[in-house]
Amino acid sequence: MAGRSSRKRSVYTCQGCGHSASRWLGRCPGCGEWNSMVEELQPATSRGKASVKSATAAAESTVLLGEVAGPGIEGRLVSGSGEIDRVLGGGLVPASAVLLGGDPGIGKSTLALQLASALSAKGACVLYVAGEEAPAQVRLRADRLARAGSDKLLVLPETDAAAVIEVMRKKRPAVAVIDSIQTLYSSEVESAPGSVSQLRETCAQLVAAARELECAVIFIGHVTREGTIAGPRVLEHMVDTVLYFEGDSNHAFRILRAVKNRFGAANEIGVFEMAADGLREVPNPSLLLSGGAREGVSGSSVSPCMEGSRPVLVEIQALVSPGTAGSVRRTTLGVDHNRVAMLAAVMEKRLGLSMASHDIFVNTAGGVRLDDPGVDLAVMASLASSLLDVTLPAATVVLGEVGLTGEVRAVSRLHARVKEAARLGFTRAVVPAANSDRLDDLDDLELLRCKGVADAWRLLSG
Ligand code: TYD
Ligand code: MG
Repeated sequence: MAGRSSRKRSVYTCQGCGHSASRWLGRCPGCGEWNSMVEELQPATSRGKASVKSATAAAESTVLLGEVAGPGIEGRLVSGSGEIDRVLGGGLVPASAVLLGGDPGIGKSTLALQLASALSAKGACVLYVAGEEAPAQVRLRADRLARAGSDKLLVLPETDAAAVIEVMRKKRPAVAVIDSIQTLYSSEVESAPGSVSQLRETCAQLVAAARELECAVIFIGHVTREGTIAGPRVLEHMVDTVLYFEGDSNHAFRILRAVKNRFGAANEIGVFEMAADGLREVPNPSLLLSGGAREGVSGSSVSPCMEGSRPVLVEIQALVSPGTAGSVRRTTLGVDHNRVAMLAAVMEKRLGLSMASHDIFVNTAGGVRLDDPGVDLAVMASLASSLLDVTLPAATVVLGEVGLTGEVRAVSRLHARVKEAARLGFTRAVVPAANSDRLDDLDDLELLRCKGVADAWRLLSG
């Protein structure tokens, strides 16, 4: 590579967050992780010359913004799977780079293979680079999948990034899936495959190849908690789209979440169910995530949350029970731990409910992660309902953000949320009085407006 000398420089890189330092440190200053710095050799680059050269080249390649063709929806590679296409922002953009991260065993390879076969069935040439599994294993998985068309799907067992790019050059696929980026290595970097420098180098080489060869690249990356293999987080800024595949291994459903998307809305989600024949789309996630709510049981409420552009009804369960003196437990799944602590404190102060000496457990249905503050009031309703063993009224959804003074704040897109609730047969909604949205068209739904948490609790327990 131009401007690159053979001198090697030793750097210490955190395998968790990618922070690098010139000497070894016991604790990473970037993320605070202990013992995560590993020595890596990096080829020294003579920056001076290279930058003068690239500046001249850059000046020549400036273009008028108005003359640049944008990645319109027309050019996208559409798989036909509504959930995946929507999360991608309307299909896969040619020559773009996508990172698909997730815990091992969550179903990343399955999702990628289903996407690959759907795209190849539509006539696109797809290259599946299997660094982790033999082609026979990929075949075995493909055979399990209901609609795997394998005609134009090429499988390449390879872990050398240069060899992969060579194949891309020869076969000219429209899409390449790299399963996984952690198994790939480049001989230009001396660290082990999966280390931060290898990840960065192989990813950079493949992203450059993707642009040059007009091939969309999907990198699969394992999220690991230990420092031994670097997480895909260090790659997030190098790609156009970052998708995380989440879910609880005890539950069958999985959520594909766009956390970054240069070509679509971030925070968009797709919901799938893992079945014996692969991942099935769940076009109606509200039913799945709130359908299990049992009436006549305390500690459960349903709230319409915004997941990306779409409202989804989710059941929130709480269990509040007297704790042992001196040690109380606060465990949450799906909702932020600190947020629950704050809500418990507000309940203590504004509703006069004694929470301090109680164990608190809060779960969302299936552990689906909720970042939407609009669920505050529902979390609080579930907590109070469990503490006092009061059943909440049937067919009622609860919605509102709670402030420190106990006020119930307006939520975004109230109309879309309560409409979803009405669609699923809910007849009443506790909503913030602060929302002035026009809801005249929702005749079947009784709206109970509340200003503060005391109001809301009166409506729910009365
Ligand atoms: P996999 O895609 O290999 O996960 P990852 O690539 O994220 O490590 O799939 C993991 C699990 O999914 C595995 O335990 C088996 C299960 N599975 C099914 O239940 N049905 C299927 O059709 C397939 C292919 C896998
Ligand atoms: Mg896999």
